[in-house]
Amino acid sequence: MDASSLFTEETSADIVAASLGEDTDPRLKRVLGSLVRHLHAFVKDVELTNEEWEAAIGFLTETGQACDDVRQEFILLSDVLGVSMLVETINNRALDLTTESTVLGPFHMVESPPRQLGDLIALDGKGEPCLITGRVRNEKGTALPGARVDVWQASSEGYYDVQQPDVQPHRNLRGLFTTDDDGGFWFRSVVPRYYPVPTDGPVGRLLEATHRHPNRPAHIHLLVTAEGHRPLVTHLFVKDSPFIDSDVVFGVKESLVRDFVSVDDPERARRLGLGNPFRSAHFDVVLHSESGQETPR
Ligand SMILES: [Fe+2]
Repeated sequence: MDASSLFTEETSADIVAASLGEDTDPRLKRVLGSLVRHLHAFVKDVELTNEEWEAAIGFLTETGQACDDVRQEFILLSDVLGVSMLVETINNRALDLTTESTVLGPFHMVESPPRQLGDLIALDGKGEPCLITGRVRNEKGTALPGARVDVWQASSEGYYDVQQPDVQPHRNLRGLFTTDDDGGFWFRSVVPRYYPVPTDGPVGRLLEATHRHPNRPAHIHLLVTAEGHRPLVTHLFVKDSPFIDSDVVFGVKESLVRDFVSVDDPERARRLGLGNPFRSAHFDVVLHSESGQETPR
């Protein structure tokens, strides 16, 4: 027997990494090998006790069990640990000219209903009316007609439709828009409120145990896609929202924050079919064109 091939505290990571077979997919081998090394270093660093190991297994088990068709506790865990934002940030490096991305979040659980430009997505009309306008182009300045702008947001009370199926109308505050000939999009809604991430599960207990507040500043989610361009997952943040400086999922980027300007103009409000006064925000989106695939116009 070769003693150097036996598992010891000193050799643990090397032994496990070496057990990954030669024919393993190279990327899988790299990712899993690194994960094993970091995990073993972590266990040694904190000298994890048996009780802590059991608690960790129980916590992860509960996290999985808390997931269903309309709740994704694992994404939430990734979000509050900053992992989702780190992955986003790494994968969108060096794209200075394009709109910054941020987390997808756990609430893009259902398909947004296709809507016409200008439609009101606040189906119950509850909240402070607002108009959102913007234009989609690429980093070369080319307007992108026919781009799809998928939006979803919390209500003026801070809840997504899927959290309140008996209170909010079906698919409230969601819409899938298609940009016009100039890449423009606009829709009517209500100003979203900041909201706490769900705190009645294992992730909520983690936040409580570490004395963190559970809130995200007010925002509207956007998922923007256009043929020949890299899809963009981002938010439009409301500048004067509470928690804009302490988002529980670390999602705020300065370039994504907009003033929701107050407009007191009864005539314009009437033409738009909005209550007066209303708030208004403009958000241009710049996508990254994948080379050689751009459709010229
Ligand atoms: Fe959100």
